[in-house]
Amino acid sequence: MKTKITELFGIEHPIIQGGMHHVGFAELAAAVSNAGGLGIITGLTQGTPEKLANEIARCHEMTDKPFGVNLTFLPSLTPPDYPGLIKSIIDGGVKIVETAGRNPAEHLPALKAAGIKVIHKCTSVRHSLKAQSIGCDAVSVDGFECGGHPGEDDIPNFILLPRAADELKIPFVASGGMADARSLVAAISLGAEGMNMGTRFIATQEAPVHQNVKDAIVGASELDTRLIMRSLTNTERVLNNPAVERLIEKEKELGDKLTFMDIHDEVAGVYPKIMHEGDMDVGAWSCGMVAGLINDIPTVKELIDGIMNEAETIIQRNSSLL
Ligand SMILES: Cc1cc2nc3c(=O)[nH]c(=O)nc-3n(C[C@H](O)[C@H](O)[C@H](O)COP(=O)(O)O)c2cc1C
Repeated sequence: MKTKITELFGIEHPIIQGGMHHVGFAELAAAVSNAGGLGIITGLTQGTPEKLANEIARCHEMTDKPFGVNLTFLPSLTPPDYPGLIKSIIDGGVKIVETAGRNPAEHLPALKAAGIKVIHKCTSVRHSLKAQSIGCDAVSVDGFECGGHPGEDDIPNFILLPRAADELKIPFVASGGMADARSLVAAISLGAEGMNMGTRFIATQEAPVHQNVKDAIVGASELDTRLIMRSLTNTERVLNNPAVERLIEKEKELGDKLTFMDIHDEVAGVYPKIMHEGDMDVGAWSCGMVAGLINDIPTVKELIDGIMNEAETIIQRNSSLL
């Protein structure tokens, strides 16, 4: 399938694996790229420029296809060494960067000067237009359904995607709630040039996370996610568990007085324990409502081939309606 996104990134299928903290290692990124999609290494999980350079080199050893690096810009008292991470990306010959979080304008000149294509993840039309105006090449439009940070507008993709299509000139992919061929064809019908998946790619053979994480996604329904940290204007969609219930109780009790320190134990530093040790109830971890559509743990290639074959069938079936 050829779209503006496959052309922009030089990939075969319009399917992107979004950056995911402690999930987006070289193993998953390479598997997605080898299957014809765009795999993405999560920069901040590596932490230092040296470690990121090493991860990029490992990914180059596993694939000769294009892959990207995610740079998430978070408000932080001690910000990561973004210029150093960007230098590792440039020196590592990576040509695609997925930015997320705050406005990436400050870092665009360095990325653009190195010929890197930038896709910025946005949860609203206004942020997408901003990304377009500062020179991003594409946008990943992340609806309210998404795992991770859906923003504060709560607009689901059935509204958000056609609104983005009406306003944007640069290409965009649909993100949030995407699981299968139906998602891809729907996304394209709503004006997107492809789709970005997070949660679905965790439940694959190659995702380098503990089996408990994959089983938790397969076992979850669309009713099992919760929104946390709304009062901190840092809303996150996570899978429910005892730690999340504890956190929500604190949110109810403290209301607007809640501070990050009140929920520190439930959110800080929990990802390695969950993703690598499989200690599922130790804290809150991002997961999309799309868990309700995920019932298996295929290889990445089986997943992507299955989506592309089924998409063709759906498109043919729909055209026979005419
Ligand atoms: C476990 C997990 C960790 C994530 N970490 C990040 C991250 O570090 N940076 C980022 O930009 N997005 C992150 N995301 C968001 C994904 O890249 C993607 O936008 C989102 O999962 C799409 O929604 P879906 O899960 O419904 O497919 C994360 C998502 C999950 C599920």
